[in-house]
Amino acid sequence: MKVEALPVTKGDYNLQDYNQAYETFDWSQVEKEFSWYETGKVNAAYEAIDKHANSFRKNKVALYYRDGNRDEKYTYKEMKDLSNKAANVLKQADVEKGDRVFIFMPRSPELYFSVLGAIKLGAIVGPLFEAFMEGAVKDRLEDSDAKVLITTPELLQRVPVDELPALKHVILVGENITEEGPFLDFHKRLEEASKDLRIEWVERTDGLLLHYTSGSTGKPKGVLHVHNAMIQHYQTAKWVLDLKDDDVYWCTADPGWVTGTSYGIFGPWLVGASNVIIGGRFSPDTWYQALEDYGVTVWYSAPTAFRMLMGAGDDLVKKYDLSGLRHILSVGEPLNPEVVRWGVKVFNNRIHDTWWMTETGGQTICNYPCLEVKPGSMGKPIPGVKAAIVDDQGNELPPYRMGNLAIKKGWPSMMYTIWNNQEKYESYFMQGDWYVSGDSAYMDEEGYFWFQGRIDDVIMTAGERVGPFEVESKLVEHPAVAEAGVIGKPDPVRGEIIKAFIALRDGYTESDELIEDIRQFVKKGLAAHAAPREIEFRDKLPKTRSGKIMRRVLKAWELDLPTGDLSTMED
Ligand code: PRX
Repeated sequence: MKVEALPVTKGDYNLQDYNQAYETFDWSQVEKEFSWYETGKVNAAYEAIDKHANSFRKNKVALYYRDGNRDEKYTYKEMKDLSNKAANVLKQADVEKGDRVFIFMPRSPELYFSVLGAIKLGAIVGPLFEAFMEGAVKDRLEDSDAKVLITTPELLQRVPVDELPALKHVILVGENITEEGPFLDFHKRLEEASKDLRIEWVERTDGLLLHYTSGSTGKPKGVLHVHNAMIQHYQTAKWVLDLKDDDVYWCTADPGWVTGTSYGIFGPWLVGASNVIIGGRFSPDTWYQALEDYGVTVWYSAPTAFRMLMGAGDDLVKKYDLSGLRHILSVGEPLNPEVVRWGVKVFNNRIHDTWWMTETGGQTICNYPCLEVKPGSMGKPIPGVKAAIVDDQGNELPPYRMGNLAIKKGWPSMMYTIWNNQEKYESYFMQGDWYVSGDSAYMDEEGYFWFQGRIDDVIMTAGERVGPFEVESKLVEHPAVAEAGVIGKPDPVRGEIIKAFIALRDGYTESDELIEDIRQFVKKGLAAHAAPREIEFRDKLPKTRSGKIMRRVLKAWELDLPTGDLSTMED
């Protein structure tokens, strides 16, 4: 497990003495850096962009963007003007404070202008991953009563506008848009819009972002984050990302996922860094080329991507000059020690694991630049975050005992509520104000945390979180499927893949065509990443007497493990 020691990265913001900082730090020290300290009101988009545009960073590049034929850059001043203009376009669509504005499009500068513009009006932004299909899009727009959607003409085909009564306007980003009914032309209006804007100053507890995420039961739930979260984004961008003024930073996550907003938008811009956004799909050449061309110094990605790069071979990486890269981070799934070792070999850098979730809103347990990395461990709680392993009653467990990974309520980026579902929100907490993550882990005697797995049935495939229930519900809509049970099956590259066990309706027989048809059905109805890579047919699926599919039995079948207690299983 040991990796040859590299010197510990030292930087301006590094915690020189973790133990001391852990004891003495409190978040009110950071709050002083934001406007509400003086005015009582705040706006995260102002803090991320306008503050720098009005400072010595005015002409510094805030955004580098590349995808296909587009290769663009925008300074902080330009970002301020363009997000003001986008806000004025949204005003024409009647957006007001608290309205839900959803953004469903591939990564592009327009996406970022829109997110910032909506936030400047005090609206709540719901970013949707571009791969979502109609069912997934509809669920989210419906649950949140979205008033405005910004999308492209291509993706509009997956939006059932007529079935969404709350949706008043659809702003289209594309060529030759005809404005009729609810449709507005983004580019035309952006061009004509004023760059003057009166920002809507809000409370720290007013809504900022609504990220839908999956649990093991029910439909995806809307995790609401508020402006207060930026305190943590700001501080972790310094401590954990180690961002300084001369850094060029690249976070590979899409803003449809929380990493792509917390650390693809807020972290880097709150501290005034230059932020690289690369559109399009993953490809080792494009990625290495981007690292070289932009001289990326700090890079935040995910284990699946690192494993795929590793699979592309060391000869490829040697073709690029990546000497500027000085700090690499990972999130989303367990980071294998083997990948850390590979990182040291090819980048001369350790990859730093960070652990957090959609619900935590920001980094909580991390390997900082100034901490010794223990490959395989997620690191230690950052100062201001208290984490522990607790039993099912909320009692803290001693080192090396496996249990629930829990965080003490009260870190700034903690979700504010679950949209329309306060009961669900409350179900996350255990006695003693512990937020229970759903992950199991243990802590060693030095306070490092070691991830063991999910306690529930949530699947993490290629870093994306998929709820088995959502996939099962879609599967049983297929005419051939009587019953379906879905599990995560361990996979060396993707962490897990989705495997479905299916019982067919009478009159249907197994065939390769049927498998392909079922897979396409989920792909088209939900999203490509939610479609089962493996499908196995069974005459009957294991169920409890109350009719619930027993996924743990399916998993035991798959992994050749003992099935455990079957007393609740139907005959
Ligand atoms: O199981 C943990 C895994 O990802 C889950 C959270 O997923 P999501 O809300 O989509 O957010 C992902 C990115 C912030 C967690 O419950 N996870 C996240 N980071 C790690 C991890 N598992 C192991 N190691 C990590 N560093």
